[in-house]
Amino acid sequence: MSQITGEVKKEIERRRTFAIISHPDAGKTTLTEKFLLYGGAINQAGSVKGKATAKHAVSDWMEIEKERGISVTSSVLQFNYGGYCINILDTPGHQDFSEDTYRTLMAADSAVMVIDASKGVEAQTRKLFKVCTMRHIPIFTFINKMDREAMDTFELLDDIENELGIATCPVNWPIGSGKEFKGVYDRNEKEVELFFDTRKGTIQGEVKKVSLEAPELDGLISGEQRAKLEEETWLLDGAGAEFDQELVSKGELSPVFFGSALTNFGVETFLQHFLKMTTPPLPRMSDKGLIDPMSEEGFSAFVFKIQANMNKAHRDRIAFMRICSGSFEAGMDVYHMQGGKKVRLSQPQQLMASERRMVERAYGGDIIGVFDPGIFSIGDTLIASGEHFSYEGIPTFAPEHFARVRQVDTMKRKQFIKGINQIAQEGAIQIFQEFNTGMEEIIVGVVGVLQFDVLKYRLENEYNVEIRMDSLPYEYIRWIENTEIDVLKISGTSDMKRVKDLKGRPLLLFVNEWSIRMTQERNEGLVLTEFAR
Ligand code: G4P
Repeated sequence: MSQITGEVKKEIERRRTFAIISHPDAGKTTLTEKFLLYGGAINQAGSVKGKATAKHAVSDWMEIEKERGISVTSSVLQFNYGGYCINILDTPGHQDFSEDTYRTLMAADSAVMVIDASKGVEAQTRKLFKVCTMRHIPIFTFINKMDREAMDTFELLDDIENELGIATCPVNWPIGSGKEFKGVYDRNEKEVELFFDTRKGTIQGEVKKVSLEAPELDGLISGEQRAKLEEETWLLDGAGAEFDQELVSKGELSPVFFGSALTNFGVETFLQHFLKMTTPPLPRMSDKGLIDPMSEEGFSAFVFKIQANMNKAHRDRIAFMRICSGSFEAGMDVYHMQGGKKVRLSQPQQLMASERRMVERAYGGDIIGVFDPGIFSIGDTLIASGEHFSYEGIPTFAPEHFARVRQVDTMKRKQFIKGINQIAQEGAIQIFQEFNTGMEEIIVGVVGVLQFDVLKYRLENEYNVEIRMDSLPYEYIRWIENTEIDVLKISGTSDMKRVKDLKGRPLLLFVNEWSIRMTQERNEGLVLTEFAR
């Protein structure tokens, strides 16, 4: 295969596409908006409050979606900084958490994990982290809110290592926290970056750095803090993991940074280190082997998200795709592998910091949304003409909330089945059936409860079908990997339920983790998984 050269290669090499993951309120939005400030993508110098602008940009978009009763999207923000072209994939949190949140991670080449220094690892981070480790992508940690009282630094690192099972390597080390927060010590440069609470919405103002040996440091941090810093870094040098780029690239070691997004402290340092340590667009697995953007000339992309019903009058949809190789030009004809035909990608758009805009040209690593007349499904591959291949599909993620759904008016059975199947096919919900009965009973599974509302709204508005939902007590679902197993013979707990998914694959529903363990113990060799390929 020939090496790609010239402009396309240069453009791909300077791309960095990453997702930000965190538990709600850890500071993801605040950190993102500070990144945008450095990239010049939003107004600078405090003339417009950075935060308000960034939040506004994202939430406007969400409001539109909410109004139309569709699931809230993950948005993509693109900006340039230090010669890099950066794509940030936002992962919605709170009650908006959905399978889209997981799918977004499939389109990223690395992840930034934001942790609240007073709370440590929280539930949502844990869930999203699992998807990152499944993909072995690099994970960078930003421990935020150091300007507030924080947990002990070693405890925070232990928490990440124990809860998430990833080794950590602090690139810098905090001096105090809350009112006593004095800054961070850069372990490589052996200097202290001093904390000032003055840069908040701006990037103006100097970053002050003082060598650890400099006598002036004594006037800036207390003797007690200096002694503590010396002791902690000594301990760290002896016992902590050394920085190892290879382990970082494999997602086995997470570089850790401390800072405060709100006061804009440690953010640029983090951004600079992160950009050096993270990866340009990664090769991806296909049915003809790994496709490397550095050697594959032609355009290729896969669909990771479908946004339905952007315009109710037309029932249109937008398919979001991650470009994996080559370049894209507006109005380009490409081959849709799953559809088996050529399609023109029309109305391509990118969500910028403050607006959606049409894309003229995009490159490997970028995310674009194109108008979808209803032909794309999640996981589909698009390629330029040439040798055909399909990218590895996107896994189905385990829903955590289940309900039995039926139509109120029995005469509307047909519309109900059509609607619910279409919505499931778009990937907004998952549907299951009792293992050994017909289509009468439909069980819907979702990752976030908001998706139930979306389902109800869409069935009523788009298909004119009223439904009844009865929630079910199950919280865990497991696919059965061993296809040879007789599902009816599995000896489980009394509250376990056997169902099958749209593809006919057998699954088990459980009320708690204990039941999963019991079932596994009782059935030797049974392999249960949380993701289905
Ligand atoms: P999220 O996207 O992860 O959900 O979090 P977001 O950035 O919205 O931040 C959640 C809250 O935490 C916000 O306060 C925000 O100002 C605050 N915050 C973020 N980073 C820091 C930090 O480094 N230090 C401190 N002290 N606070 C931080 P809020 O009161 O909920 O919102 P707002 O009224 O400030 O907008």
